[in-house]
Amino acid sequence: MPDTSDEQEGSGMEHIDTGGGRDAASRHVPVMLPEVLDLLAPALSTPGAIHVDGTLGMGGHAQAVLEADPQVRLIGIDRDPQALRLAGERLAPFGERATLVHAVNDEIGAVLDDLGIETVTSAFFDLGVSSLQLDETERGFAYAHDAPLDMRMDPTTGMTAADVLNTYDARDLARVLSDYGEERFARKIAGAIVREREVTPFDRSARLVELLRSTIPMASQRGGGHPAKRTFQALRIEVNEELAGWSRAIPVALERVAVGGRIAVLSFHSLEDRITKRALAAGAASTTPAGLPVELPEHAPELRLLTRGAMTPGEDELATNPRSASVRLRAAERIRTPRRTKGA
Ligand SMILES: C[S@@+](CC[C@H](N)C(=O)[O-])C[C@H]1O[C@@H](n2cnc3c(N)ncnc32)[C@H](O)[C@@H]1O
Repeated sequence: MPDTSDEQEGSGMEHIDTGGGRDAASRHVPVMLPEVLDLLAPALSTPGAIHVDGTLGMGGHAQAVLEADPQVRLIGIDRDPQALRLAGERLAPFGERATLVHAVNDEIGAVLDDLGIETVTSAFFDLGVSSLQLDETERGFAYAHDAPLDMRMDPTTGMTAADVLNTYDARDLARVLSDYGEERFARKIAGAIVREREVTPFDRSARLVELLRSTIPMASQRGGGHPAKRTFQALRIEVNEELAGWSRAIPVALERVAVGGRIAVLSFHSLEDRITKRALAAGAASTTPAGLPVELPEHAPELRLLTRGAMTPGEDELATNPRSASVRLRAAERIRTPRRTKGA
């Protein structure tokens, strides 16, 4: 069974501080920052470097990139308007070197087109939720606090977790809980949700947590982590269409990395890491048809993998930042022009 644990496990939800007025730097600790900077360094020092950060968040990695070389230009994308506002304050000292865009990162092609940018020298993605999103209790990501069942990273659009719970049929609910949460009792929980919502539709997280406590057998609750952990993770992935979105985003991002440019990706969930791994491995493989004695230039690999397998954090980071527990870092360099034509 794949390990789908993600950052919710060690999200610090037990010591939440919504701390109104806290700045971006104090809200989210960037994960594997030295490793990411090392992997991107040759691209960041290229003359005229343009770095796209497709998950800007609190701008922690982005700030370090801007500091790494005084000529780098940053394009920072995030779907969360609150994150963009806080990152904007943090990155204001860099003036016109930082351009921040409210978009979903599978729109990266259109974002770059609008800015008149054909290719970038580096791209970076730090997938999943930020500590800001987990800590803002009213956004409904955290099971430890009663809140509206929202969970949208972009609260201006799309369906909420309550919409999923109140409208999906039992089969789809079970699929979501099983596929995205590895929840063993997915069918049982889905049945209970459908029965309960006929009495009153779901709107707040405490009622869902209560249902999970009463539905998951006690023996499994002992030692299996919080009984709501897997369901909340699954709902969050479904609400934000995280896996389908990443499957759409990574090929476009790869196409926009210039020859000699680099891409680095931090994944917190085995399913998104698998998408990353496959996309990078496909680019690093020759497409020479079996039986062809020589490799024609158009079949040659277009990427060079920079990480052997996936990198994981060192012990110091694991000890100080629980959010880093499930992270996997993969990176690649573009060594020739893409085989396909430019995407969306
Ligand atoms: C883990 S945080 C990034 C933290 C950042 N690297 C830092 O150091 O502050 C992930 C961010 O990506 C954003 N995000 C997740 N999926 C996205 C998507 N498909 N498109 C745009 N932004 C996304 C989230 O809103 C969140 O702010």
